Amino acid sequence: MNVKTRPGRRKRRNGGTSIDIREMRLEDLPAVFALGQKLFTAEKLPTLYRCWDDDEVMQLFASDEEICLVAVSEDKQIAGFALGSVMEKPHNAWRYGWLEWLGVNPTFKRHGIATRLLNHMTRLFIRREARIMLVDTDIDNKEALAFFRKNDFGHERQHVYLSRNLDDHPDSIERREARNSDDD
Ligand SMILES: CC(C)(COP(=O)(O)OP(=O)(O)OC[C@H]1O[C@@H](n2cnc3c(N)ncnc32)[C@H](O)[C@@H]1OP(=O)(O)O)[C@@H](O)C(=O)NCCC(=O)NCCS
Repeated sequence: MNVKTRPGRRKRRNGGTSIDIREMRLEDLPAVFALGQKLFTAEKLPTLYRCWDDDEVMQLFASDEEICLVAVSEDKQIAGFALGSVMEKPHNAWRYGWLEWLGVNPTFKRHGIATRLLNHMTRLFIRREARIMLVDTDIDNKEALAFFRKNDFGHERQHVYLSRNLDDHPDSIERREARNSDDD
């Protein structure tokens, strides 16, 4: 199923190229993954970097391909993507639409592509009867926060990730020692 848009608004010109928003296809997965790797780097966005892998993209696509969207340029480049999921809790009337990943190729930034992806995703979530839409990102991701705030997202809550290096755990030391003695 292709994403329905109002007649005449399907494509927009962006600095000479027109961009089409459509559902992601299996053959788009490598390009989407590669674009994410370029955007979610360990230096700039460490938490997103850790969670982004080809399996994540594949799983979202396999579980609900209708809410995985891509923005495609005239020359068939993937200019952006939006990957979502719908969450329901038992005994809870609320259904949530979670925009899990959003990314735009730096060449195409500030041309309204993320806005178009977000608007399509919002309509799809509403069609699925979601009542709340969720987004999340790193607290230092100023551009994404500016983008989401501009698009009416609020009620911000902070969530803290903690980590522990397991290399010093006695079990890890034991495993390393056992491996080393096997190699001898
Ligand atoms: C955040 C991101 C998706 C925005 O994509 P985009 O296509 O450039 O966004 P749009 O052109 O639709 O921007 C719409 C509005 O959001 C705001 N905005 C977007 N990027 C901004 C930035 N870098 N700084 C300040 N405001 C910004 C502006 O108000 C903009 O309107 P304007 O250009 O008329 O001023 C893109 O920068 C990106 O891919 N970032 C890296 C990946 C990421 O952080 N993803 C989100 C978390 S998963």
